[in-house]
Amino acid sequence: MSTKVRAAVCREFGGALQIEMIRLAEPGPEQVRVRLHATAICHSDISLVRGRWGGTLLPMVAGHEGAGVVEAVGEQVQGLAVGDKVVVTLVRACGQCAACRIDHPVSCDQMLFSAERSPLTDAQNGLLHQGLATAAFAEACVVHQSQLVKYQHSVAFEYAALLGCGVITGYCSVSNVAQLPKRQKVVVIGVGGLGLNTIQAAAAQRAWPLVAVDVLENKLQAGLEFGATHAVNATSNDVVEQVMEICAGPADYVFVTAGSAEMFSASLDMLSKYGTSVIVGMPADNEKVFAVDAHKLTDGRRLLGSKMGDVRIQRDIPKLLDRHQEGALKLAELISKCYPLEEINEAIADVEAGRALRNVIRF
Ligand SMILES: NC(=O)c1ccc[n+]([C@@H]2O[C@H](COP(=O)([O-])OP(=O)(O)OC[C@H]3O[C@@H](n4cnc5c(N)ncnc54)[C@H](O)[C@@H]3O)[C@@H](O)[C@H]2O)c1
Ligand SMILES: [Zn+2]
Ligand SMILES: [Zn+2]
Repeated sequence: MSTKVRAAVCREFGGALQIEMIRLAEPGPEQVRVRLHATAICHSDISLVRGRWGGTLLPMVAGHEGAGVVEAVGEQVQGLAVGDKVVVTLVRACGQCAACRIDHPVSCDQMLFSAERSPLTDAQNGLLHQGLATAAFAEACVVHQSQLVKYQHSVAFEYAALLGCGVITGYCSVSNVAQLPKRQKVVVIGVGGLGLNTIQAAAAQRAWPLVAVDVLENKLQAGLEFGATHAVNATSNDVVEQVMEICAGPADYVFVTAGSAEMFSASLDMLSKYGTSVIVGMPADNEKVFAVDAHKLTDGRRLLGSKMGDVRIQRDIPKLLDRHQEGALKLAELISKCYPLEEINEAIADVEAGRALRNVIRF
């Protein structure tokens, strides 16, 4: 038994995604099939289908920020039933490995995406890889139960989809990884889908100044609308000086959500001796190495990495949906445009051209 759905298939890194009918295997004992209503496009999907992270996982269906309705459940699934509204994430956690046992599910060994386990095949019965353990650029997906968060909030699917990665990664990099105290001097470098949520979280902690840094004026404007107090264009060659002038000295916290090794280094140059830099953005494989002056760290600066904001999805996603309902978390304002699946290549091109905050595929 299998279910046929339309999906955007990547057959060649850098090539256009092809809309094809694919087959989804029936959910295994711990799996769930979700009929997707919306999937947002994260820059990680773009890096993946452009081949920036190498690998040979082709052909593949990407997409990992989804929301929809449970359509079928495996016999061992607990706490989810047909008809439930769910946020779909890539955080697949076994509950048993070393990372899961110390409550860091984002680092679970099961986050590996092996070909054998993919529930996807194409019309010729050829294997399709499940990009980012989800394959949400399709009308439905089959994922592990641990990847889903049931919710009852009355929120549009396209907003709920944003919680699948961009919102939680940006927000929880502040709340979980940095555990940002109140009233700190904060800089956010990269003001896209993740960075705007980093700004929202820092603004909730009354960061001041809260400096947005990006290479695009439209992103800087959005940063100010999401709570930044100042904006600095990173195309100028004195970014560090500008930030230090605004902060009247070095910053307490810098979050780098741009996938830029140059900015990872710059974050340490604008940081106080007791400051913290949090690395969130993911450069291409050939740009990921950067030099660190060890003395900057032995002076006391902290350099932290963030994998999806160290999110615990069952705890953090409902909390963020509550905040949205209280009017304290912007979601609608993150969406630049909704596209049908057939126009996914246009939606991606629009993001690459820097025009979109988040583009969403609506099924
Ligand atoms: N750590 C994680 O768990 C995790 C999770 C999801 C995404 N990511 C990564 O985070 C990054 C951001 O994702 P996104 O979806 O927000 O992307 P996005 O395209 O929406 O935003 C990136 C922003 O960075 C800006 N930018 C690019 N180069 C810059 C530079 N040198 N200086 C300042 N700004 C610059 C762009 O103009 C853009 O506004 C990507 O690399 C993505 O792969 C990481
Ligand atoms: Zn695990
Ligand atoms: Zn993502």
